[in-house]
Amino acid sequence: MTGAASFVFGELRAVNARPGVFSVVTTPELWTDEHISGRMLAAHLDPHLDSASNRIDVVERVSAWLVDRFDLRDGRRVADFGCGPGLYTGRIARTGARVTGLDLSRRSLDHAVTAAREDGRTIRYLCQDYLSYRDAERYDLVLMVMRDYCALAPAARRALLRTVREHLADGGAFAFDVDAPPAFDAVEERAVYAPSLMDGFWSARPYFGFHNTFRYERARVSLDKYEIVEEERRRTFYNWVRYFTPAELTAELNGAGFTAVDILGDLTGARYDPGAPLFAAVARTGSG
Ligand SMILES: C[S@@+](CC[C@H](N)C(=O)[O-])C[C@H]1O[C@@H](n2cnc3c(N)ncnc32)[C@H](O)[C@@H]1O
Repeated sequence: MTGAASFVFGELRAVNARPGVFSVVTTPELWTDEHISGRMLAAHLDPHLDSASNRIDVVERVSAWLVDRFDLRDGRRVADFGCGPGLYTGRIARTGARVTGLDLSRRSLDHAVTAAREDGRTIRYLCQDYLSYRDAERYDLVLMVMRDYCALAPAARRALLRTVREHLADGGAFAFDVDAPPAFDAVEERAVYAPSLMDGFWSARPYFGFHNTFRYERARVSLDKYEIVEEERRRTFYNWVRYFTPAELTAELNGAGFTAVDILGDLTGARYDPGAPLFAAVARTGSG
């Protein structure tokens, strides 16, 4: 093999190598990069897409169910962890609830702030990492929509649950959704290469993109890894998903001090379906 061929071979072997489960985390870069966060925001706001946020009809149904189930009204305190552009915070605030939205993406928060102003609502938006968030406020409901819990490494999930616990009022609840084993069953390992992979999603400049999907059977985790090579910059993005059974999730929540856990089909209050790709949980620290 010539030197050049062996160099390219070595690079491609590295691109296609399977990383250890949750060995690298790049979540913040995904949400804060100037170009990518713009493309993400466009996906959040597309009413027909359910890749970044739910479709708008589902957003409406989730918001209505939350308001009803948690009696959200004047003075009730709600936090949305990873609120994005404020699809849920904006709707919930219309009940008179005191709503806080936390997100890493300045760009999404700017959109949320403008939307709240135009709607005549006061919503507290914080550009904060929800893993390390600390303040004196206590919430009747902490919300996390779009299965973000599953993207977190085990230590990050423990940090998140500690943060949620510390910020729940007496009788308060943590409501969130997760990916389930049927979604893992549908994941296929593959390797894809394309110039401007995903139609320029990763950069405004010319680039070559490699997308590898890996399955980790024992851990029931998948990884979508994106290697993005520009003329003067090379970046790798890791999108991890841990798929839970209700028993595994309940055990994890119990271990973090959430003693009362309800399992539902989703955040519209549907009944749990073992064949569905996702389910939801409502967790409390007492019988509340
Ligand atoms: C998949 S989006 C869902 C947004 C929103 N929940 C919705 O359903 O429309 C995930 C959001 O979580 C935010 N996020 C991810 N990790 C975060 C962290 N550690 N702290 C705060 N926000 C985070 C991202 O910026 C993004 O807006």
